[in-house]
This record gives sequence, C-alpha cells and structure tokens, in this order.
Amino acid sequence: MAMKTLETERLILCGWKPEDVNDLYEYAKDPDVGSIAGWAPHASIEESMNVLRSYIENDNAWAIELKENRKVIGIIKIYPDNNHGRYHAMMINYALSAAYWGDGYMTETVKRVMQYAFDELSIDLLTVFHYPQNIRSRRVIEKCGFEYDGTIEQGCIRYMTDIFLILFVIPYLKKTG
Ligand SMILES: CC(C)(COP(=O)(O)OP(=O)(O)OC[C@H]1O[C@@H](n2cnc3c(N)ncnc32)[C@H](O)[C@@H]1OP(=O)(O)O)[C@@H](O)C(=O)NCCC(=O)NCCS
Repeated sequence: MAMKTLETERLILCGWKPEDVNDLYEYAKDPDVGSIAGWAPHASIEESMNVLRSYIENDNAWAIELKENRKVIGIIKIYPDNNHGRYHAMMINYALSAAYWGDGYMTETVKRVMQYAFDELSIDLLTVFHYPQNIRSRRVIEKCGFEYDGTIEQGCIRYMTDIFLILFVIPYLKKTG
C-alpha cells in the first residue's frame, strides 16, 4: 500500500522503492541487526529484493531515509495487533543499520510514527515488544513513553545462527487520553 511520507528533524520516512535494495541489503546482511529482532541476516541481494517487494505489496512499512543524502538506513513497520479486545491496536517493529546506532535515530522515528498512528489512524493503543536481551530496543521503547504491560513466556520463536529458540516477549502498550 502507498505509505504517507512522514518527516522528522533528520529523517524522511517514505514508502520503499525497488532502488532501495542496495541500502537494504547493506544493513540486512549484518547478523547483528536481524538476529536480535528475530529474523535471519539476508544471504543475497536477491533475498533483499524479495523482502523489499513484500514491504511494498503487503506491509505498512516505511523506509527510513537520512535527509542529508537520502540513504536508506532502516525500516519501521506498523500493523494490526488483534490481541486487545475492543481497542483499536497496532504494533510497530523496526530495525536500523548498525552504522547508525546510538545517535537517537530510532527514537526520533518511533515518536513520529506514534504521532501518526494516534492522530491520523486514530488508534487506541500502540504496542511493541522486544526480546529480553535487546537493551537498545528497550531504551528506545522507554524513551518513547511506552508502559510495561507484561511478559509472555514462549511467546515467539527467534532466529539465531541456525537454531530456533523459544524466548520471552515483552509487549508494551500506551493508551490515549
Ligand atoms: C534497537 C535499535 C533500533 C536502536 O536504534 P538506535 O537509533 O540506536 O536507538 P537510539 O539511539 O534512539 O537509542 C538507543 C539507546 O540504547 C542505549 N544503548 C546502546 N547500547 C547499549 C548497551 N549496550 N547497553 C545499554 N544501553 C545501550 C543508548 O545509549 C540509547 O539510550 P540513551 O539515549 O538513553 O543513551 C537498533 O539498535 C537496531 O536496529 N537493532 C537491531 C534490530 C532491533 O533490535 N530491532 C528491534 C526489535 S524489538
């Protein structure tokens, strides 16, 4: 689906384009990026192209671009979360090229998408989870004002090298008003 372009101080969040494939592959082949988020590093540029096509065709996924040079440095997605009864809830997840970690980029991105989701999609709850060992993501979540909701044991299967592990998932949610 066509994504509404969003802007922050340093970033442009926009729909994915086929020509973004090199930037996607550059960060997605790095095992440090995907494995802590539950997905395998991309093994080839063809794999990245298939993933990119699915972003365009199936997902509410924005490419995170640096304003200064329009390089794509990450992704943020938002999708329905049907686990919250009468609340209109959506979940986000995200990943950033390791070369850009620790500079506040993802906090800046998540805050903008939160604003969009509450103001323009009129959701009631925004949820997010991280694996327990993912301290960086936890900090992003805390800095964006999410509240701890609970821990789900054996909630998700996580990719790590070639072994699938059952781990804990921690969902967060935030109510409007
Ligand atoms: C999680 C991720 C998106 C964070 O992006 P980022 O732009 O580096 O995040 P920010 O710079 O906004 O914030 C990172 C915070 O983690 C802190 N941090 C970084 N390394 C840390 C460490 N080893 N221990 C504790 N805190 C750490 C930073 O200091 C910063 O907090 P601060 O602002 O209080 O100093 C990025 O690391 C990433 O893409 N990781 C791989 C994919 C992933 O984990 N996705 C999320 C799945 S839930």
